[in-house]
Amino acid sequence: MSYIDKLYDLEGKVAVVIGGTGELCSHMALGLAKAGVEVVLAGRNEDKAERRIDMIQASALEGGAGDKAYFVATDLMEKGSLYALLDIVIERSGKIDILINGAGVNTTKPLLEIPTEDFQTILDINLTATFQACQVFGQYFLEHGTPASIINLGSIAGITPVSNSFAYSASKAAVHNLTKNFAREWADNDIRVNSLIPGFFPSEQNQRALDEAHILEILRKTPMSRFGDSDELIGATLLLASARAGSFITGSEFVIDGGFSSASI
Ligand SMILES: NC(=O)c1ccc[n+]([C@@H]2O[C@H](COP(=O)([O-])OP(=O)(O)OC[C@H]3O[C@@H](n4cnc5c(N)ncnc54)[C@H](O)[C@@H]3O)[C@@H](O)[C@H]2O)c1
Repeated sequence: MSYIDKLYDLEGKVAVVIGGTGELCSHMALGLAKAGVEVVLAGRNEDKAERRIDMIQASALEGGAGDKAYFVATDLMEKGSLYALLDIVIERSGKIDILINGAGVNTTKPLLEIPTEDFQTILDINLTATFQACQVFGQYFLEHGTPASIINLGSIAGITPVSNSFAYSASKAAVHNLTKNFAREWADNDIRVNSLIPGFFPSEQNQRALDEAHILEILRKTPMSRFGDSDELIGATLLLASARAGSFITGSEFVIDGGFSSASI
C-alpha cells in the first residue's frame, strides 16, 4: 500500500449519505464508493435514487465498492424514519462509520414576501433534519463506542448571507454553529463532526433559485470565475471521512468555493 493509500484508507467503511439523491452528495458518495466505501443513499425520491445508484454502481468497473451501493427511502422530517434507516443499514451492512447530512432546500423571495410557513419549512429540512440525524446516528455511535465522521453540508450563504435566500442563509449559519457544538460535545468519543461548505455549484436546487443576473454576479465575485464541478467536493470528503488523514479535524468549516468568501474587491 502506498503512503497516500494508507493515509486515506477507507476500504470497507460504510457511509450513510442523507440527501444522496441530490447532485453534490451523490458525487460525494461516488467518490467514497471509488475509495472502497459501501455507500447508502437516503432520501425521498426513488426515481432520482435509481439514477444515482446506477451511476455509483457503474463506477465499480474501475474498482472500489460501487457495486455495494443501495438506496433507503427516508423521510427526514420523521425521527422514526431515521431510526428505521439506521436499523436497515445495521442489518444489511453491519455497521456505520460515516454520516453525511446533505439534504437541502432553498426558495428565493424578497424579504417582506416570505410566508412564515415557507421560512419554517426551509429551517426544518436544512437545520432540524440535520440536528435529528446527528442525534439518531450519534446516539448509535456513542452507545456502540464507534469512531465516526459526520459531515454536515453548510453553505457560504451561511457565512455571508445571500440576497433573497433569507431562510436558507440563516439555516446554514445555524448548521455551521450546530456542527461545532456537536463536535465539542463528542470530541472525547472519537466522533468527529465537520461542516463542508460549498460555494456555488450547478444543481437542481440553485438552478431554480438563480436568475441570469445572479449567475453573472456570482461569476464576477468568484476569483476563479466559475462554478464548482460536482466532483470537486470529493477530495475534502475523503479527507474528512478518513480516520487517519482527518484524525485531528473536528468542528471545522471546510470551505470549497473558488475563493468566493475570501474576496472583497
Ligand atoms: N449547489 C450549490 O451550489 C450548493 C452550495 C452550498 C451548499 N449546498 C448544499 O449542499 C447540499 C446538496 O445540495 P445540491 O446542490 O446537491 O442540491 P440538490 O437539490 O441536488 O440535492 C438536495 C437533495 O436533498 C433532498 N431533499 C430535500 N428535501 C428533502 C426531504 N424533506 N427529505 C429527503 N430528502 C430531501 C432532495 O431530494 C435532493 O436530492 C444541500 O444541503 C445544499 O444546501 C449546495
